[in-house]
Amino acid sequence: MGMGSGFGKAILFNEHFVVYGIPGIASAIDLKTIATVEPHEGPGIYINDRRVGTKGYSTSKLEHQREAINRMLAAMGLAPEEHSLAITLNGDLPTFSGIGASAANCVAIARALSEEYGLELADDSINEIAYEGERAYAGTPSGIDNTAATYGGLIWFKRSRSVAQGASRSANVIERLRLKEPIEIVMGNTGVVANTKAAVAGVRERREKAPEKYDGIFKEAERLVHEARRALEAYDLRAVGRYMDANQALLREIEVSSDELELLVELARTQGALGAKLTGGGLGGCMVALTPGKALQAKVAEAMEQAGFQALRTTIG
Ligand code: PMV
Repeated sequence: MGMGSGFGKAILFNEHFVVYGIPGIASAIDLKTIATVEPHEGPGIYINDRRVGTKGYSTSKLEHQREAINRMLAAMGLAPEEHSLAITLNGDLPTFSGIGASAANCVAIARALSEEYGLELADDSINEIAYEGERAYAGTPSGIDNTAATYGGLIWFKRSRSVAQGASRSANVIERLRLKEPIEIVMGNTGVVANTKAAVAGVRERREKAPEKYDGIFKEAERLVHEARRALEAYDLRAVGRYMDANQALLREIEVSSDELELLVELARTQGALGAKLTGGGLGGCMVALTPGKALQAKVAEAMEQAGFQALRTTIG
């Protein structure tokens, strides 16, 4: 039996913009998906998904899931049709959209397959293989999710220009950011299963129709993320929160927010969160609120729960 795990993540700055080669900042969270792989009697791949989370998530993602596994087997030089495998998914990372469930799942399965077949793949290879899997879920993923899911920690990620323009994968910039202490966050779940592929395609379409408007927004996203990095490294949490709010305004302008996300963002801010924004593909899924200290974290999370939403209490960095 082969076993592997992958971290969930929160994108703190620049989801979507990161697809076009603008830097983004993401943090792994301390929740994981665990995959086990065993030989199976019947033909093909049998998936036993025991993860808990948003109702309907696993069923609605099943086609993506199958395609992702086939892509990863092929990337490992294993012919998908020749393998009868039972894959079981478990762990404490819930299957909310926007929390990196697909990337954590790809990394966990890639590691479990590597162990099952004795391939002893290092993290860099696992990350590349998980990227192949992520393409099934996200179309043209930037790679930020699988990178956070593989290595953990807080990362500055910039997709290499050649990759952003469609060339084969080459050196993305991945830098580890260090915080003097982890920071409490709350991740609020809208309960809406989101389709990242459709969200990414929508941004591409709108950008092609209104290049000037989008150029301006993209420039602002680039300026903002450098400021946000400086604020994070200086541990100036009030400034980090303000940049998260500003990032949310840009994400709203490119039309990836939703009424439920806006409601949760507003709720978090009125309860004292230093900043709040959607996280991940948007159009449903999750939002993230910066809530340093256990007391503020509890206050914001409880307010979300009282309003009928699920809220995860975790940390970044
Ligand atoms: O929805 P998620 O958690 O898979 O995040 C997607 C992040 C995007 O920036 C929208 C896409 C990408 O590949 O970076």
